[in-house]
Amino acid sequence: MKKFFTIILIATSIFAQKFEKLALTPPMGWNSWNKFGCNINEEIIKKMADAMVESGMKDAGYQYIIIDDCWQGQRDSLGFIQPDPERFPSGMKALADYIHSKGLKFGIYSDAGWYTCGGRPGSRGYEFQDAKKYAEWGVDYLKYDWCYTEGLNAEGAYLTMRNALYAAKRPIVFSICEWGNNRPWLWAKNIGHLWRTTGDITACFDCVVDHGTWKSWGVMQILDMQKGLRAYAGPDHWNDPDMLEVGNGMSVNEDRAHFSMWCMLAAPLIAGNDLSNMTNETKEILTNKEVIAVNQDSLGIQGFKYFENDGLEIWFKPLMHDNWAVCFLNRSTKPIELNFQWNNYIVIDSLFNKEANFRNNIYQIRDLWLKKDIGTTEKNFHSVIPSHDVIMLRLKPIKK
Ligand code: GLA
Repeated sequence: MKKFFTIILIATSIFAQKFEKLALTPPMGWNSWNKFGCNINEEIIKKMADAMVESGMKDAGYQYIIIDDCWQGQRDSLGFIQPDPERFPSGMKALADYIHSKGLKFGIYSDAGWYTCGGRPGSRGYEFQDAKKYAEWGVDYLKYDWCYTEGLNAEGAYLTMRNALYAAKRPIVFSICEWGNNRPWLWAKNIGHLWRTTGDITACFDCVVDHGTWKSWGVMQILDMQKGLRAYAGPDHWNDPDMLEVGNGMSVNEDRAHFSMWCMLAAPLIAGNDLSNMTNETKEILTNKEVIAVNQDSLGIQGFKYFENDGLEIWFKPLMHDNWAVCFLNRSTKPIELNFQWNNYIVIDSLFNKEANFRNNIYQIRDLWLKKDIGTTEKNFHSVIPSHDVIMLRLKPIKK
């Protein structure tokens, strides 16, 4: 009998795989953590689903409503996980149905260790049972964290959950969250659809917050940590520099820069603000379709830093049909005057074999935040970038 089960177990792992093609472009959605932390309940989650539709976020491409930590209650006598009965009295199936009825998808959170980071039951030892429950509830996305995992091998632990999800037979996007500690970009391509590359983000443009045993990172700090990782990302397997802090307290300029850079990075766009109470500026940033199109471009190539000097960075991202996105980022605390002479430059992306040759070719320029065509690369580009802000352009070759 024991042998029989061993054979079944081995067979489940040999024939298991990641559900393919669930994230051909970076996933877009909303997650409860950045704004609400542990203070969540079914009313808040439903309200966010309503707001995602009413605010135009759904139309702009956002899909997933993801409940982060602290939804869990106790396991039942058979070991199946149950939601916290006070916060989610109607149960997870009802919540999933509600979210699905709005044309949205439902995401949930667990942890590879004994407990979640918030101290709720983790999935360790219960992976197959948890995956089965998620499938029954109608879960479409799982974020899987890394607290209380002492002694565990990360690749093995994430592989176990991947296999469990596959065995449960419901396609679920698998979001790996071990903070880049074990260099997941080297092993996670066939395990998950996205993997965190860093520790937690905080709503600050350029700072580090020290919590004693761990640190959270500002937008610029996280941006710098993406260096060297673009080779590993592409359709269905993305680097995840953590969720968005747009609308959570930074200035409008900083929010715009943060959002633009996440789009340049082909990062998952998971909003983390209160969708039911957004300023117009926040909404306009999160729903700018032309900026989002840079993120969602089907080539799925992560952008790169081409130039940096004195607080100015210039980033390029190859897009479909030989288009390019260009982002001028001002990290400094003063405005920067820009006088960019295109035809001095030949931009080469040797990793993905792309070239923007401004000496030989002319491109039409569209300013994606002004939403205006602003001429061609024949002329110098002259403008001023406010402090902690960007100018983001889309270039389209002009057929000769
Ligand atoms: C970790 C993750 C965060 C969030 C919290 C929840 O810190 O990195 O994104 O999920 O746990 O406790």
